[in-house]
Amino acid sequence: MEKKKIDWENLGFVYMQTDKRYVSNYKEGKWDEGALIGDANITMNECAGVLQYAQTVFEGMKAYTTEDGRIVTFRPDLNAARMADSAKRLEMPVFPEDRFVDAVVRTVKANAAYVPPYGSGATLYIRPYMFGINPVIGVKPADEYQFRVFTTPVGPYFKGGAKPITICVSDFDRAAPRGTGHIKAGLNYAMSLHAIVTAHANGFDENMYLDSETRTKVEETGGANFIFVTKDNRIVTPHSSTILPSITRRSIMYVAEHYLGLEVEERDVYLDEVKDFAECGLCGTAAVISPVGKVVDHGKEICFPSGMEKMGPVTQKLYDTLTGIQMGQIQAPEGWIKVIE
Ligand code: PLP
Ligand code: COI
Repeated sequence: MEKKKIDWENLGFVYMQTDKRYVSNYKEGKWDEGALIGDANITMNECAGVLQYAQTVFEGMKAYTTEDGRIVTFRPDLNAARMADSAKRLEMPVFPEDRFVDAVVRTVKANAAYVPPYGSGATLYIRPYMFGINPVIGVKPADEYQFRVFTTPVGPYFKGGAKPITICVSDFDRAAPRGTGHIKAGLNYAMSLHAIVTAHANGFDENMYLDSETRTKVEETGGANFIFVTKDNRIVTPHSSTILPSITRRSIMYVAEHYLGLEVEERDVYLDEVKDFAECGLCGTAAVISPVGKVVDHGKEICFPSGMEKMGPVTQKLYDTLTGIQMGQIQAPEGWIKVIE
């Protein structure tokens, strides 16, 4: 298989159409057998449930080329399980979890020429998603759904790559108690668009959202969870029922404890204590681990000792270990790596 001629080293986090995508349709209570198709466009009724009432959920994952030339994905079973949770919360039928993993494998295989080479700094982003497709005018769930998987090669999510970013404490809330913050629904991202455009207009890279009930606790950003490093090298991450349960964050906490021998804490993190941490990072599939150099809270600057030039030493260790596992240089825990070919 010959790789596409793409400037892998200079890719940003933008959509590039690839050759094949997987589609399966749900009608009369069951999913059809599914297929890989060439057409990247979707035709649907003007009144489709997704268009009127945003009935859509999605996932984000990546395929990597390992040092020895294999193509692998990272913990796809957890994405399948999370998509099932998201679907249930929006009254959508679950796409069977084993079929989810199979659809991802087939889509990546069919687009193997777009999987960036080892060492290029790029990866193949995989986007499984599903949505209500039949006409719905009263507020109720659709009866028919489409599940799809497409892929697109990507570089770093934040422009500077591994350069620390500056984020601001947002005046907007991302998720309500007992709402949908813990699932990966398009609606959570639609409502964050005004907040991210406002943050960018004010010169910030991202938002730090607080819990909407008390506005005293750190939640997450628009597309990643937080990890903090204390001055005595403990790894702290916010515990909250209104943030997305990041697969990257759960993996980092495991790696910190079991590979690096660090103490880990998942607990309430108060905005007031952020100034006491030594390092801060955003973690997620797209963000990997993106270091935060500064948090601005309404004009008050919180500058982490790790600075604005490079990631802090503990964040770097976590980054190297996590990406080492994903790229096959470090032995992964049992079941974390799914070899595609
Ligand atoms: N939080 C939000 C709001 C996200 O969109 C994402 C991205 O998927 C994450 C956290 C990180 O989750 P994961 O590590 O599973 O990609
Ligand atoms: C991901 O990390 O996969 C996401 O879905 C986050 C999004 C901001 C791109």
